[in-house]
Amino acid sequence: MKNNVVNIAIDGPSGAGKSTIARLLAKRLNMVYLDTGAMYRAIALAAHEAGLQPIESQALEQLLAGIRLDITYHDGVQKIGLNGRDVSAAIREHAVSKLASDFSALQSVRIKLVELQRELAGRADTVLDGRDIGSFVLPDAKFKFYLDASAEVRADRRCRELRSRGEACDRETVYKDIIERDYNDMHRQFSPLVKAPGAVVVDSSDMTIEQVVTRMLEVINA
Ligand code: DC
Repeated sequence: MKNNVVNIAIDGPSGAGKSTIARLLAKRLNMVYLDTGAMYRAIALAAHEAGLQPIESQALEQLLAGIRLDITYHDGVQKIGLNGRDVSAAIREHAVSKLASDFSALQSVRIKLVELQRELAGRADTVLDGRDIGSFVLPDAKFKFYLDASAEVRADRRCRELRSRGEACDRETVYKDIIERDYNDMHRQFSPLVKAPGAVVVDSSDMTIEQVVTRMLEVINA
């Protein structure tokens, strides 16, 4: 493991634009991008497919012990493999979002993924996005950001994204899901979503993607 790697942590609620921003930032800075939410989504998908409920159980322990997650990059796009099967598209299904929020509250799930995240982040200069990167996974990350946006703006963005893919969007349902996921992510007992000490807060509600990237680059290059 290289111990002189640079890590950039970007935490915040769902839909604030973390993955878009983290990907762009990594590209500009020639760093690796690690989408940690995808890892929670993949575990939730596996557990759901195995018929497990989001509670600690021996069956979940066994499942976690046997899971192999492979993070690879194709033209800069992260792909995630679950025991050799590419689940990059499946984990983006709407139903998996709620499952991921529920399963990510479990300590056994977090322990497994945090270990893997620390290992991956130690291998190369990496931009990581998630909920607890700056507060728990990498408290010594060189740069920490908390990317926020109002729930209204996040619901609008999500609907625009779904409609641009030709999918229907009921804004009220999306808005309610966002509020529920925020609550789940901020109130779980183990490693909840918080503003990490020392994190620079960026509220993207009234900012373009480019403005957010520019703001972060200013902090990084200061
Ligand atoms: O960022 P996302 O929507 O893909 O994340 C899916 C879920 O995983 C989200 O509800 C919170 C959880 N998560 C987490 O608890 N910790 C992380 N580092 C990343 C995601």
